[in-house]
Amino acid sequence: MKKWFMYSFISILVVGMLSACGTSGNGDGTSGEGEGEKKVLVMGTSADYPPFEYIDTEVGEEIIGFDVDLAKAITEELGYELKVQDMDFGSLITAMKAGNIDLILAGMTPTEDRAEQVDFTEIYYTANHMIVSLKDSNINSLEDLEGKTVGVQMGSIQYDKAEEIAEEVNITIENRDRVPQIVQDLKTGRFDAAIIEDTVMKGFMEKDADLTGFTLDSDEEGSAIALPKGSELTEEFNRVLKEMEENGKMEELINKWFGGEEE
Ligand code: ARG
Repeated sequence: MKKWFMYSFISILVVGMLSACGTSGNGDGTSGEGEGEKKVLVMGTSADYPPFEYIDTEVGEEIIGFDVDLAKAITEELGYELKVQDMDFGSLITAMKAGNIDLILAGMTPTEDRAEQVDFTEIYYTANHMIVSLKDSNINSLEDLEGKTVGVQMGSIQYDKAEEIAEEVNITIENRDRVPQIVQDLKTGRFDAAIIEDTVMKGFMEKDADLTGFTLDSDEEGSAIALPKGSELTEEFNRVLKEMEENGKMEELINKWFGGEEE
């Protein structure tokens, strides 16, 4: 009688311990998991970059754009739910290395330096640097930047480009966290010029007749999706990107957000 009681007591204990293990955290870094319920992937972005990612206050408070649609299409295809988190462009890689976000879509160019810290998919869209200024400032060439103050986004390759230009022409480089701040400082005369991607500048120029610019065709820059180093998702993302190129879905998105002028 006593023995029987002992055994059942022990088995209850064991069953209890096992089920406790089963409900403990998944510890794999990605948020929310479980049979039947979709895993969530958190996309980090810098929503200052129309038409890639921005908030159109006339439409709502949500972050919209080419990158958001693209990320949604890919993660949906792979069976994930997507959440979008906004932060300064210069903080994105650090945030992903800290495990706070699972992927980055921010019109981000896969540079060598960045590729040491994160993995990149294939490039999904290309653009060029543009030197932007006010129409009456007569800045038409790199030489015209002599003695001028040039604004660029913090942590962007436009900053690197400005440093490269500074080796030839005497310029003062100024950083801003967000692209609309750069355009604002250009408007008020705090900056004489700025370096911004042509595809993004196009939108600002359509809304503001005082702005003008010329493209530096020499160095084309592309955008790619960043994932944590060694992530198995990179290959799956590449597979879906390729599918989307082939089935016309990518062209559809490009037409929707860039007006279909890109070849
Ligand atoms: N393509 C440039 C880079 O990788 C600029 C990207 C800026 N993106 C943004 N969402 N503000 O540095």
